[in-house]
Amino acid sequence: MAQDERLNKFQTIHEEEKVRSDKKVKVGIIGTGWIAEVHVECFLTMEDVEIVALADLVPGKAAAFAKRYGLENARIYESDEALLAGEKELDAVSICTYNCQHAPCTIHALQAGVHVILEKPFTVTLDEAVAVMKAEKESGTILTIGFQPRMSRNMQMIKKIVESGELGDVYYLQAGGGRRRGIPTPFGTTFIEKETGGIGAVGDIGSYSLDMLLNAVGYPKPLTVTGYTADFFGKDPGYYPGHPEYADKFGVDDFAAAFVRLEGGIILDFRISWAMHMDTAGDALILGTKGGLRIPSTDCWNGDFDKPLTVYKTVAGEPVSYQVPLFEDDTPCFVTKLRTFVDAVKEGGKAPVPSSEILYNQAIIDGICRSAELGREIEIDIPEI
Ligand SMILES: NC(=O)c1ccc[n+]([C@@H]2O[C@H](COP(=O)([O-])OP(=O)(O)OC[C@H]3O[C@@H](n4cnc5c(N)ncnc54)[C@H](O)[C@@H]3O)[C@@H](O)[C@H]2O)c1
Repeated sequence: MAQDERLNKFQTIHEEEKVRSDKKVKVGIIGTGWIAEVHVECFLTMEDVEIVALADLVPGKAAAFAKRYGLENARIYESDEALLAGEKELDAVSICTYNCQHAPCTIHALQAGVHVILEKPFTVTLDEAVAVMKAEKESGTILTIGFQPRMSRNMQMIKKIVESGELGDVYYLQAGGGRRRGIPTPFGTTFIEKETGGIGAVGDIGSYSLDMLLNAVGYPKPLTVTGYTADFFGKDPGYYPGHPEYADKFGVDDFAAAFVRLEGGIILDFRISWAMHMDTAGDALILGTKGGLRIPSTDCWNGDFDKPLTVYKTVAGEPVSYQVPLFEDDTPCFVTKLRTFVDAVKEGGKAPVPSSEILYNQAIIDGICRSAELGREIEIDIPEI
């Protein structure tokens, strides 16, 4: 086959894969819990999106959800597989299940040939992330991971500062933030049970903290990790007023710390907390050969920090610092997260937050959990995909 012909063939496939821009993107929602509300509220603001189906394992939950949002025309299913089998015209799905169902649901959707926006964290284990990416490779459809802080201008500024060269060569990253009392049980126990959450603070908010820093420095490959996890608060019945029984259900971590070596000689000093006797584990820091950046303590999840970034430099031999003014985002980052996904689906574009980056995020989380269990440093081995 001549080269032109080969390229044209790809062009044709590419064109066919696009959702025609005059057509509505048909979306299904898998898992109709807490975060699905945000997905649906954002999709409902988009005239070129139609929510055609919803699924939840809990009988009646998806139907009640549909009623709440005026989606009476949407078809209702009791599992991701039933939805994917029943919907022949589907373009995309939002996967809003608890963590342990991220991998199976995403693999099913990719095998069904639909585009996927998957909530964070990517998966529970590294093996699951690799299996998902193999399915992604075979499907050729888009898989994006739902890290909305990536869409915030203030968060984007962190990466811009690093890429501008203002800090020189980065050699040290320190994660900060974390919560004093914030084990997420407002709507039940799916975050804290091993069978549903799989991992605790390390995946829930640790994944954001890792993404903020690793994305800024171009996602270097993690090499080794010494990890620690704790569950002192989660397992204390006194932590949950009115729900002491949650302590027995708690099967994940509520605090994690780690020391990670990254490719390129960069060190990552990580800590995250759902609960601790401290207001914050501190600010996040990026140290480079020409400058340092202080990122005020943040949970990261909503793309916000309430104080400006500070850059530290040496100018004319003197230590100086300056603040970067905070930006106001015109559109909430949750809307932009879903809008950029829909645009990629319509235009045959790339995943806004690609799995190839988040694989390293997941490898660190997996490494922290395994190292903590073994009580020693481990090497991070990422299989070929
Ligand atoms: N991006 C954010 O800011 C943000 C905020 C909250 C939660 N999340 C993430 O979203 C995910 C869901 O969180 P949540 O608070 O909505 O949890 P949730 O427990 O309230 O809802 C999850 C729902 O998924 C359903 N489900 C599980 N497996 C299913 C399957 N195979 N088919 C159909 N339904 C299935 C459950 O029955 C449940 O109703 C978590 O991974 C969490 O980390 C992200």
